[in-house]
Amino acid sequence: MTSKQDWIASPSQPLHGELTIPGDKSISHRAVMFAALADGVSRIDGFLEGEDTRATAAIFARLGVRIETPSASRRIVHGVGVDGLKPPAGDLDCGNAGTGMRLLAGLLAGQPFDSVLVGDESLSRRPMRRVTVPLARMGARIDTAEGGLPPLRIHGGQALAGIDHTLEVASAQVKSALLLAGLYARGETVVREPHPTRDYTERMLAAFGVDIEFSPGHARLRGGQRLRATDIEVPADFSSAAFFLVGASIVPGSRLRLRAVGLNPRRTGLLAALRMMGADIAEENHRVHGGEAVADLLVRHAPLRGIEVPEALVPDMIDEFPALFVAAACAEGPTVVRGAAELRVKESDRLAAMATGLRALGLRVDETPDGATLHPGALQGGRIESHGDHRIAMAFAMAAQRAQGEVRIGDVANVATSFPGFDALARGAGCGLAHTP
Ligand code: S3P
Repeated sequence: MTSKQDWIASPSQPLHGELTIPGDKSISHRAVMFAALADGVSRIDGFLEGEDTRATAAIFARLGVRIETPSASRRIVHGVGVDGLKPPAGDLDCGNAGTGMRLLAGLLAGQPFDSVLVGDESLSRRPMRRVTVPLARMGARIDTAEGGLPPLRIHGGQALAGIDHTLEVASAQVKSALLLAGLYARGETVVREPHPTRDYTERMLAAFGVDIEFSPGHARLRGGQRLRATDIEVPADFSSAAFFLVGASIVPGSRLRLRAVGLNPRRTGLLAALRMMGADIAEENHRVHGGEAVADLLVRHAPLRGIEVPEALVPDMIDEFPALFVAAACAEGPTVVRGAAELRVKESDRLAAMATGLRALGLRVDETPDGATLHPGALQGGRIESHGDHRIAMAFAMAAQRAQGEVRIGDVANVATSFPGFDALARGAGCGLAHTP
């Protein structure tokens, strides 16, 4: 992850074939965490072998949890119980993962020992007050670097008390951090959200036997409960599938089937947006994997038109805007995004990164503080920066499939945080995508 690597991307063939997309990142993080805290042995199938989720597994190993890897994408976790984690020697490295760091902040705030959470360059620029401030209201003691940035120095041994908290920004990470701290708190913890966000923490805690009450925008649990080991089957990550949904939609002649993709309604805002744009995406073979709805997605090329993205869809497609911008770049008529200021504090400032990159390929993009208006046109070749952001790199790899020249995408190593093997899978599907020598 340290040496800089670029891609050279260019149009090749229509996208075709059947693809298996790697496991869901959000679910994989939580599966390891909750299995580690459970009483008994849990098996995880479909675990994402990405750098983010492996960093989380490595942290629990450092906290004294035995985790076996019988084969790729499988883990056997020997849970130590909610009170069984051991003090770590040295800092705990979350890598690039905001989910890892924020959820762990809540979980570690309730331990009897001190710990320090650190991250890579990108994570070290991401705001942490959104978790440390409400956790402090529960009695946690967490020091940050100046400006509320990582590292997080967590002072253990605090008596936590449950709170009733309304989130300022819709964030599943913050909600989850508070619920995990709530497991260690006296009394009840209630989290209310301005817009419902992904509910994997709630659903998975329930699967681990925790008595938790939840509905969209609201979750409540009592402290002092134990978790019971269970097996978890992780569906394919919709956010990773998104790049192929867009790639096949924009390249004429494409027809692609994506197997067993997770379709949790709090994740699939992009499906709704693409369909509003005229995309041809069918859902087949609906079933339930480990409590999550999955289906095969069959996507065929279709002419797209620009839309005003409904603000209500934003939380349900918060990770998909890089992909959406690429679809919009190839549509007829402008696309308008509003109410998406959170994009400025993701792995990069995604509004700025997409606007700058699309301008470098010849498009007009009018940026606003919380969105952008994108004017489509013929994409030229050029050089763009991913800013070390996996989703920016993958989005431009797909945009390049419609460009009139070669697109060089700078600094793509972080694609391995969420989608190891993306480039090989993309090439196999027909994309022109090579590494720089
Ligand atoms: C995630 C929540 C979202 C999302 C991130 C994963 C999670 O972040 O962007 O990729 O697993 O809880 P926020 O909670 O900051 O919106």
